[in-house]
Amino acid sequence: MEKKNKIFEELEKVKQQAVGEIKGVDSQKELEELRVKYLGKKGILTTRFLKQLGKLDPQLRPQVGQETNACKDMITEQLSVKKKALVSEEKEKREEELYVDITRPGARRRTGYEHLLKKTQKEIEEIFISLGYAVKEGPEIENVFYNFEALNTPDWHPARDEHDSFYLKENEYLLRTHTSPVQIRTMEKEAPPIAIVAPGKVYRSDYDATHLPMFHQTEGLFVDKDVNVGHLKGTLEHFMRELFSKDITIRLRPSFFPFTEPSFEVDISWKDKYGKIQWLEVLGAGMVDPNVFKAVGYDPEVWSGFAFGAGIERLTMLKYGLTDIRDLVRGDIRFLRQEL
Ligand code: PHE
Repeated sequence: MEKKNKIFEELEKVKQQAVGEIKGVDSQKELEELRVKYLGKKGILTTRFLKQLGKLDPQLRPQVGQETNACKDMITEQLSVKKKALVSEEKEKREEELYVDITRPGARRRTGYEHLLKKTQKEIEEIFISLGYAVKEGPEIENVFYNFEALNTPDWHPARDEHDSFYLKENEYLLRTHTSPVQIRTMEKEAPPIAIVAPGKVYRSDYDATHLPMFHQTEGLFVDKDVNVGHLKGTLEHFMRELFSKDITIRLRPSFFPFTEPSFEVDISWKDKYGKIQWLEVLGAGMVDPNVFKAVGYDPEVWSGFAFGAGIERLTMLKYGLTDIRDLVRGDIRFLRQEL
């Protein structure tokens, strides 16, 4: 009785141990090791039980044999259940590793940013295109005819001084000091009526917080019959309201340009956040001088027009609240990304 209980107890213990160990396994390799450990030819069930049958009381043998076989079946069953679980677990893991979420956003690439000046220039172009104007370009290396003479600019005008302008060949070629030569180039080629804007680079010998040696202007020219200062004022007011998205009024102050008569400095005004009226000079303008029409072969008795020239840097600084014009050319990456 003593012996009988002991061997069954031992068998039960092996069974519990096997079940426990099988549960704890987490790879097929370990599982196979357990199979060999318990069920193999030199495994626990064979060596400790089946091979010992001969030493047992003959009466006990059949039952021990049976129970050992039942235990073997049970362990076999447990192994196969665990194997299935491991196989599907491993498959899941592999799938998880291979899984690609095609809905995830792609790797971000830093693209460039449009420079504030170009942005302003394009906005200006859009405003005038929507009024029916064409956009024109002219060369940055000009000759004195287009830059000065055809624009009725006399010898004594300060812009003609070699200290103020970049001459390439004295009295012949220079870097254009304004976009006004595009007026002449356009009128030479085309018959009136004319409605153009001409943005681009211009060059003057200046450098400080409000002047760059190279900067941008946009020219405007409108030529038709019976054009008057009212047309000029209305056009510029519309231009400024569109550009600044504000209810702006403008004021014309008498001024002088050789190629316009009368000539004006144009100021814009708006109410600041304290309700105070502010005035700021933004561009030069005027009615096209008859001498300019004569230079391009238009009859000044028939045709009339207005012209204006605005600094794009100045408009950009006003629009974005910049205080130093040099920020526009320094190349500070934070500025270029418009993070400032
Ligand atoms: N060309 C002038 C300048 O550069 C501006 C201007 C253009 C004035 C057209 C009147 C008419 O200062």
